[in-house]
Amino acid sequence: MQAIKANGYSVIFNVEGYKELNKQISENNYSTLFIIVDSITNEVCLPKLLPLIETNSPIEIIEFEAGEVNKNIETCIQIWNVLTELGAERKSLILNLGGGVVTDLGGFVASTFKRGIDFINIPTTLLAMVDASIGGKTGIDLGNLKNQIGVINNPKLVVVDSDFLATLPQIEMRSGLAEILKHGLIFNKLYWEQFLDLSKIDFADFDTIIFDSIKIKNEIVIQDPNEKGIRKALNFGHTLGHAIESYFMDNKTKKSLLHGEAIAIGMILESYISMTKNLISKVEYQEIKSTIKAIFEEVIFDNNDINSIVNLLIHDKKNENGKIKFVLLDGIGKFIINQEVENEIIMSSFENYKL
Ligand SMILES: NC(=O)c1ccc[n+]([C@@H]2O[C@H](COP(=O)([O-])OP(=O)(O)OC[C@H]3O[C@@H](n4cnc5c(N)ncnc54)[C@H](O)[C@@H]3O)[C@@H](O)[C@H]2O)c1
Repeated sequence: MQAIKANGYSVIFNVEGYKELNKQISENNYSTLFIIVDSITNEVCLPKLLPLIETNSPIEIIEFEAGEVNKNIETCIQIWNVLTELGAERKSLILNLGGGVVTDLGGFVASTFKRGIDFINIPTTLLAMVDASIGGKTGIDLGNLKNQIGVINNPKLVVVDSDFLATLPQIEMRSGLAEILKHGLIFNKLYWEQFLDLSKIDFADFDTIIFDSIKIKNEIVIQDPNEKGIRKALNFGHTLGHAIESYFMDNKTKKSLLHGEAIAIGMILESYISMTKNLISKVEYQEIKSTIKAIFEEVIFDNNDINSIVNLLIHDKKNENGKIKFVLLDGIGKFIINQEVENEIIMSSFENYKL
């Protein structure tokens, strides 16, 4: 698998990735390596990584409790304190070993500690491999507002090793699939079409699926790293998806949704909106809806849920001048950004999701 060149860093796969990791560690003469893990990746991923790192510098492990609920400022403060106690300085390196929660939070911790120290992402979930570890967005949640605090700052390297997926629960694999589907829907119809019949895909295909997905995301990000235009396309499904994720995270009576599960619903709703604006046909909408519903269990929304979710939208970070702006599909494999959508259409997208 060839390396993918991103903005000032590379995404490198498997053995070649570890070679580059060791090369960078030795060339930069880092004083200490800090590996940030969550409580699960500490157990299931760290034992695989440690023997592959070649360095004479000390290695320190910093663990926090797994889960989106911990992607917050309190966890950052704890890690900044540990870094300080352990003498971290500008020549230290942070390795983020985990899913999107670790790469988002670890990247933010590194980007802000002493005004920024180097970090490298080693994603261990499908979602982090194809999305969260790529593109330089780092950040944390503020209460129930997703990714409200953060900076765009690139890692020095991303090492993708799909062997980590061997221990990943099915439900997390599915969550990662949502972002993969999104990449097809916004950018590549052929890529999307391979998921119309999932029975034709097996585990061995995932290396290629991951590689192609990263290429799509990277191609978009390198053109617009600071999300002034085309990068907004990656928010397809996320305007409503984030509001749904926040609502479920904050509502103790509801079973919380994984990021990808919320985005999957968001993509159905935003495809419906695309259809009402005559941007995709009814047949295309039905294809999207039935493909996603075959993978992701349906979630029930009552009127109170829908009203609360629509209220949460006004806090979405993608809004401009108080207006809710959507990315919509302009045919499958193409997108259109900055689309305003009337509240009634949003409401009817939820109604139609049930059908
Ligand atoms: N920065 C970005 O561009 C970007 C893009 C998409 C998503 N995100 C963020 O990513 C996060 C979601 O990422 P995620 O789905 O990876 O969640 P996650 O990091 O919470 O990982 C999911 C679960 O899998 C466990 N896990 C990780 N690797 C494992 C492995 N190899 N085997 C077994 N278990 C493992 C984790 O401990 C966790 O319990 C969200 O916070 C989202 O906002 C960021």
